Amino acid sequence: MNAPVMQGLELNVPDYVKNARLIAWVADMAALCKPARIEWSDGSEAEYNRLCDLMVQAGTLKKLNPAKRPNSYLAWSDPSDVARVEDRTFICSEKQEDAGPTNNWMAPAEMRATLNPLFDGCMRGRTMYVIPFSMGPLGSHIAHIGVELSDSPYVVVNMKHMTRMGRAVYDVLGVDGEFVPCVHTVGAPLADGQADVAWPCNPTTKYIVHYPETREIWSYGSGYGGNALLGKKCLALRIASTMGRDQGWLAEHMLILGVTSPEGKKYHVAAAFPSACGKTNFAMLIPPAAFKGWSVTTIGDDIAWIKPHADGKLYAINPEAGYFGVAPGTNTLTNPNCMNSLDKDVIFTNVALTDDGDVWWEGMGDAPAHAIDWQGKDWTPALAKETGAKAAHPNARFTVSAINNPALDTAWDDPAGVPIDAFIFGGRRSNTVPLATEARTWMEGVYMAATMGSETTAAAFGAQGVVRRDPFAMLPFCGYHMSDYFQHWLDMEHKLEATGHTLPKIFCVNWFRKGEDGKFVWPGYGENMRVLKWMIDRLEGKVQGEDHAFGISPAYDEINWEGLDFSRAQFESVTDMNPEHWKAELGMHAELFEKLAHHLPQALNGTLSQLEQRFAA
Ligand code: GTP
Ligand code: SPV
Ligand code: MN
Repeated sequence: MNAPVMQGLELNVPDYVKNARLIAWVADMAALCKPARIEWSDGSEAEYNRLCDLMVQAGTLKKLNPAKRPNSYLAWSDPSDVARVEDRTFICSEKQEDAGPTNNWMAPAEMRATLNPLFDGCMRGRTMYVIPFSMGPLGSHIAHIGVELSDSPYVVVNMKHMTRMGRAVYDVLGVDGEFVPCVHTVGAPLADGQADVAWPCNPTTKYIVHYPETREIWSYGSGYGGNALLGKKCLALRIASTMGRDQGWLAEHMLILGVTSPEGKKYHVAAAFPSACGKTNFAMLIPPAAFKGWSVTTIGDDIAWIKPHADGKLYAINPEAGYFGVAPGTNTLTNPNCMNSLDKDVIFTNVALTDDGDVWWEGMGDAPAHAIDWQGKDWTPALAKETGAKAAHPNARFTVSAINNPALDTAWDDPAGVPIDAFIFGGRRSNTVPLATEARTWMEGVYMAATMGSETTAAAFGAQGVVRRDPFAMLPFCGYHMSDYFQHWLDMEHKLEATGHTLPKIFCVNWFRKGEDGKFVWPGYGENMRVLKWMIDRLEGKVQGEDHAFGISPAYDEINWEGLDFSRAQFESVTDMNPEHWKAELGMHAELFEKLAHHLPQALNGTLSQLEQRFAA
């Protein structure tokens, strides 16, 4: 097995790697990508430190001041490589129909013919790292193993935080265990003697490719986030959603939290908000003082794998082991648990470097008098005022292990998962959608989620702030036909009902309504507890809510306002249903359904007609 795959290149398979398919695949990929060397990553502390040191020398990372931010690093990416590239993301199912109208598609054979020449020699002059990882607790029946081949040491160290990564994965894999092969290259081969750059990537050519039938992931040209850390969106959402469709479970873009009452009663909530719309914040919420004895604990902040159980409940696990979270807007008031998570052992990407060797971003608190911005340029508050220059990129991120989170739920790592009592769906809407609405039925809830709109954010490359439909916050992440996905959700009701257990309630929220001054009216963040508590009261049948065309919303007096000055008029302005806005909104639902018409469940069109009638009445 240690025969050279090509002249001068040894496979160097460690003796603890015994999976024949894995070894053969690594040999094939090495022959194609032609790296200078191969390193089998073991996930150890020593390896992490060695790679970080290597990247400090290469200029990829800066070590932060250990007195301020122990064992932490800062990376600045190439300005062309700052977010997920949705228009370069492909679902290459055999039939175009299976990818559906919301995904980019190319026939697998054609895509392979496109990628092959790009991957040929793509790792020249670089090290190919073999990164074994588990999504979900190691060895658990719900977990799935992936192996990522990458020529980016930045990917290796990020994967260590984000997944259960390293040598132990091989024990689970054994001689014939299954894994999802994930190959990643920054797409920047080095000619003999060519000097490297701090953030290698391919500024013109990027491909994020999924083959759902053969369960393969091929990523070319980007080193950033979901484009490169292939366990996350590529495996745990796009590939896993197709596994879930075939096997009767759900892979969702959802946080999972536990909320415990002063009496010790605990509920679990899974919530889907689009990228950069508040999942990490909600998952780490600290209840305001008025909610004495209440606590919120984090199971996950981005992805949930949810399975129906024989007891009739849906159980959710977080397949990840860390957070790749949005830095801008995070501070000790908006998210203290998150700030505490970032005290040490963090990799920051695209935030600003302060003169004392620490980090800063917009919305962190008092601006430093001077900093170096994410592009390595001098930055001052005066310059920002004059030119609007941002110190941190709006999609600047931190990578940190879940164990750093002071609010981590004790069951976060439990392979059995936690039983879900409620689902929440929420977009970023400056108008139209009220603060909180409960769906009267599962059907109405699926409708709310399916038609959800949200203003686009910096998490994806492209225009920002435009409202687009983002069904279930899964638009960029659903690995198959969106309409079939809706049907899969609808089917879940009947599967669960058959067991006689109460279904989770479904709610829709909007923290982002703006006033005439263009400012958010709802205070958000920890204050979202007031809405969460109303939802629990609804689960317990303690409040009635107010019925309207779209669903059931809280009455002003059903919300605990203690400690918050929020008038009836303000409440009205975040909950009112403007008929003109809703007319336009339903028009956009109809447009979405037209686009998805081919496989669309008829029941969704039926629900739209009912809504139209209710709004007309
Ligand atoms: P991804 O990691 O991209 O999937 O995003 P996410 O959903 O985890 O988003 P995150 O919680 O990181 O929030 C993104 C941005 O929204 C940050 O700038 C937050 O400060 C802001 N935000 C979060 N919650 C609220 C809220 O309740 N109200 C307002 N106004 N802003 C919020
Ligand atoms: C998102 O964009 O929803 C993220 C960040 O969670 S990334 O991993 O880059 O996709
Ligand atoms: Mn996300």
